[in-house]
Amino acid sequence: MPHSEVPCAETPGDQALVAFFSRAGENYCAQGNQMLAVGHTRRVAEAVAAAAHAPMLELVPETPYPEGYDATVAIAKREWEENLRPALSSETLSAVRAISKLRILFLGFPIWCGTFPRHTAAFLDLAREAGLLEGVVILPFCTQEGSGFGNALSELARLAPHAILAPGLVVQGIHSEHCRQAVDAWLSLEAVRSAVSLGLGRSVPGAQLLASRRSLKPKYLAAPAPGLEKIREIAQTAMRVPDHGCLVPWRIAVIPGQARERLGELYAAAARRAGADDEKAERARGRAFKGPMILAFIVCGQTARGVARDEALLTAGAALGQFMQALSLEGFGGIVLSGSALEDEELQKAFCRDEGERVAAWITVGTPAQNAPQPQPETREPPVSVWEGS
Ligand SMILES: Cc1cc2nc3c(=O)[nH]c(=O)nc-3n(C[C@H](O)[C@H](O)[C@H](O)COP(=O)(O)O)c2cc1C
Repeated sequence: MPHSEVPCAETPGDQALVAFFSRAGENYCAQGNQMLAVGHTRRVAEAVAAAAHAPMLELVPETPYPEGYDATVAIAKREWEENLRPALSSETLSAVRAISKLRILFLGFPIWCGTFPRHTAAFLDLAREAGLLEGVVILPFCTQEGSGFGNALSELARLAPHAILAPGLVVQGIHSEHCRQAVDAWLSLEAVRSAVSLGLGRSVPGAQLLASRRSLKPKYLAAPAPGLEKIREIAQTAMRVPDHGCLVPWRIAVIPGQARERLGELYAAAARRAGADDEKAERARGRAFKGPMILAFIVCGQTARGVARDEALLTAGAALGQFMQALSLEGFGGIVLSGSALEDEELQKAFCRDEGERVAAWITVGTPAQNAPQPQPETREPPVSVWEGS
C-alpha cells in the first residue's frame, strides 16, 4: 500500500503522539547478542511517526542503563520484580507535562522480562494521574525476541483503565530496520482505523466495524488471551441479543491452562470410543493444546412457556456471534470450532450440568498473530430477497 493511503496520515499532529522507550547498546538477539547504535523500538517508533505524521516523545531514563546486556538485565529484573517506577529524565517529564489534547497515543516499548520496561509503567502512571489517558486510544507496539506482547497488554489495560486499547504491532528486533511495510499494514487494519477514528471523535459506521471481524485459526492466534474478567465483560455484551423470555439459554465455560490436560484426555478417550487407533487418539489429544485459550460454548436446552426451543437456539447462536464480534472489537481474535468429540456423551457429561445442556462448540481465543490474514471485503451476494405474496 502506498504510504499516502495510511489512514493515520490524516491524524492531526497535536492530537497524536508516538511515545516510546528504547535502549541502544548490547542487546539480546536470537541470532547472538548485538551492539545496537540505534535501539530497535526507536526504529519502529520512527516508522510509526512517519506513517502517522505524529511527533515523537522518547521516554528517557534519568539514569541510563549500562551498555552491557547482562548488567542491564540485572537492573531491569530487579525493577520488574519490585515493580519499581524508575525516574524519567527532567526533559521527558517536562514534555509529558506539556501534553494536551491527546487523543491517539502510539506507545512503543521493548519487551523486558515479559512486559514493558518500568520506565514505560512510570510514564503511564504519570499520564493517567494527569488525566491524559481518559478515552484516549492507545496503539501499542513492541519489539521483542520471542515473547510477543507477553503480559504487556494486560498490564497496559490495568495501568490505563479508561483508555481504549487498539490492536497492537509486534516486531522482532532484527526486522525493526525494515518495518515500514509492517507498520503500514498495521495502521491499515480495519480495527485500527476504526479505533483511530473513534479516538478522533469521528463516527465509525457500525456496519464497517462489524465487517472487520474474521475467524482466525489457532495457528494465527498468539498470547495473550483475554483474562477471566475480560471474558466476562465480553460475554455480558453477548447478553444483549434478542432473547425471548430473557432465558440466556447459553453459557461459556473457560478452560484454564491446567484443565487442558483433562480436555486432552477427554478428546483422546472420545476418539478411541469412536474407533480411532492410538495415533489418531493422540492427534485428538493434541487439539486440546492448540491456541492460547479454549472456551466451551454450552447451549442450555431449558425453555419457558411460550418460548420455542428453536427460539432459544437462535438466541444462543446470536450470542455466540456477538461474543465473537465483541472479542474482535476488543483487539482479540478467535474461531468457533466443532469436531466429532462433541458427539461423545462422556465428554458432554464432563461439561454439562443437566440433561438439557450441550457443548455446541469450542471457541479458541488469543491475540491475532503478526502473520494473521486480514479480513477480505465480502463480495458474495447477501441472502436477502423480497417476498411479494407467494
Ligand atoms: C533487560 C532486557 C530484558 C529482555 N527481556 C525480554 C523478554 O522477556 N522477552 C523477549 O522476547 N525479549 C526480551 N528482551 C529483548 C528485547 O525485547 C529486544 O531486544 C528489543 O528489540 C529491544 O528493543 P530496544 O533496542 O528498543 O531496547 C530483553 C532485553 C533486555 C535488554
